[in-house]
Amino acid sequence: MTFDEQIDRTDTHSQKWDMMEKIYNVPQGKGLPMWVADMEFRPPACVQNEIQKMADHGIYGYFGDDRAYLQAICWWMKNRHGWDVAPEAIFTTHGLVNGTAMCIDTFTTPDQGVVLMTPAYHGFAKVARASGRRIVECELALVNGRYEFDIAKWDTQMTGTERLMVLCSPHNPGGRVWSKDELQAIADFCVRHDLILVSDEIHHDLVYPGQKHIPMTLAAPGIMDRLVMMTATTKTFNIAGCHSGNVIIPDEALRAKFAARILALGISPNSFGVRMATAAYSPEGAEWVDALMAYLDENRRIFDATIAEIPGLVSMPLEGTYLAWVDFSGTGMSADEMRTRVEHQAGIATNYGATFGAGGEPFMRFNIAMTRAQIMDACARLRSVFADLQ
Ligand SMILES: Cc1ncc(COP(=O)(O)O)c(C=O)c1O
Repeated sequence: MTFDEQIDRTDTHSQKWDMMEKIYNVPQGKGLPMWVADMEFRPPACVQNEIQKMADHGIYGYFGDDRAYLQAICWWMKNRHGWDVAPEAIFTTHGLVNGTAMCIDTFTTPDQGVVLMTPAYHGFAKVARASGRRIVECELALVNGRYEFDIAKWDTQMTGTERLMVLCSPHNPGGRVWSKDELQAIADFCVRHDLILVSDEIHHDLVYPGQKHIPMTLAAPGIMDRLVMMTATTKTFNIAGCHSGNVIIPDEALRAKFAARILALGISPNSFGVRMATAAYSPEGAEWVDALMAYLDENRRIFDATIAEIPGLVSMPLEGTYLAWVDFSGTGMSADEMRTRVEHQAGIATNYGATFGAGGEPFMRFNIAMTRAQIMDACARLRSVFADLQ
């Protein structure tokens, strides 16, 4: 298995590569996309073989018989995360933005608020806003260069009309892997304000050596009556295009409500997502993830070392995820100047911090899940366009 192979993704209907010019005006051929959260790597052979098997068979009918799929999920969660999942608690959605939207739709009414801890993955606000819900932005505190919860302040923001909170664990952006105490504090907060907690753990496999992700079910077993867990193979194995996610609901009453909405909206799994996930959640998949994290760890080291050389730039220490979160506030530059240098001069497409909500404004998010040659290229470009600061 090699992560060094550079695979040309132009003209493959890739959002990250083929929309870069249109959205950022960063030219094809010259640009380096570090925005959309997918990786430049092929998934493990077990996933490729499954797709090949489907193509060889050549019949793409309706999916049925999910026993192997449910068993694979239970195996993965037990083996990789020490979490016992009951197969009947698992729903399959069309990804986790869809899962979040389904939870908001099922568990809240339009007059109720949705609580987000910002800066937060922009997909949450996008679906909450589109469904007409009020968003309550609870800003994370920046303490010694990394995010912490600011629960005493958040308590004062609650009005009694909020109904659901989305937790991102590990956190995107910022890469925090929350501790057991922090997770327990969130659970207590949700109990105090009577909130359903949707724990988006899509990045749970992508944690760096020395870090341990704790599933919310294990951190706070006392809140099963208000907890929705969300996981997926898509980030872990770079198969986001198959648009498949797991929404896992331990509580029977919540599960019945969710099942009713799934039924009402006519949602059923797509066979590509389910079969890829079944193949991925395997010992071979696990070995591939271990190798991936070792590779990403070195990318992280290289990228952080470069950012550390540029006065005024600070990269938040990534504990998990491949999404580096760089604070430009020390440069005193406006958002426009940051963009001019990074996009137009360096030719790098990133995600703007402001799109992640309150607190994100002075940041840019860089996706470092690329080949070593690409990350070196990115670092050289950044060093060059900020050379005047050094
Ligand atoms: C925290 C989080 N949730 C959900 C998603 C997207 O999930 P999906 O592609 O399954 O809709 C992302 C993508 O970056 C993410 O970071």
